[in-house]
Amino acid sequence: METFFKINDMTLADTEGCADLEQKIFARSWSKESIEDTLSVKENVCLVAVDGNGVIAGYCIFTTSFEDADLCRIAVSAEYRRKHIAEKLLESAFKKLKKNGINRILLEVRKSNEAAVSLYKKYGFKEVGIRKGYYSEPVEDALVFLLEIIPAITTVH
Ligand SMILES: CC(C)(COP(=O)(O)OP(=O)(O)OC[C@H]1O[C@@H](n2cnc3c(N)ncnc32)[C@H](O)[C@@H]1OP(=O)(O)O)[C@@H](O)C(=O)NCCC(=O)NCCS
Repeated sequence: METFFKINDMTLADTEGCADLEQKIFARSWSKESIEDTLSVKENVCLVAVDGNGVIAGYCIFTTSFEDADLCRIAVSAEYRRKHIAEKLLESAFKKLKKNGINRILLEVRKSNEAAVSLYKKYGFKEVGIRKGYYSEPVEDALVFLLEIIPAITTVH
């Protein structure tokens, strides 16, 4: 049976669950405090995907600066992957970012991260650069991706 996932704005109550996933998924993980700091900036877009029992299946974190956003984190718990959760997170985030006047999204990704690279390409991100030795544990180059999005259309009377 298809599991139902809901996308919500991240709240302080979610940060511990997200930090737990961070530890499981990333070699260099963000702490609960780092997530809380990012969440405290109201222009940032931080979302969680929760299942019917309220379990956090995934999350994404975008920081923003003027018309630009950075996709800092996106992750889905291993047991929930390939169920279009990352897609749902991105689509919800894009709507919010557009509404806030953001028109460029930048991100870095490990060169070897085929799942993430494929996800970003599917959503129209273009590779615009490479940062040599950007990552540690293990050392690896980062690919820099950019997506230019059309801001929400404002009705002019
Ligand atoms: C990358 C990640 C977030 C994808 O999450 P997900 O919910 O499994 O992805 P979705 O089911 O929404 O897949 C959407 C698209 O992403 C791509 N994709 C996802 N997983 C993939 C995989 N294992 N191999 C190849 N492509 C993959 C595909 O293009 C897929 O579209 P398709 O189903 O039409 O083929 C997940 O694998 C993850 O959490 N990885 C570890 C954390 C990480 O690397 N984050 C990114 C750091 S930059």
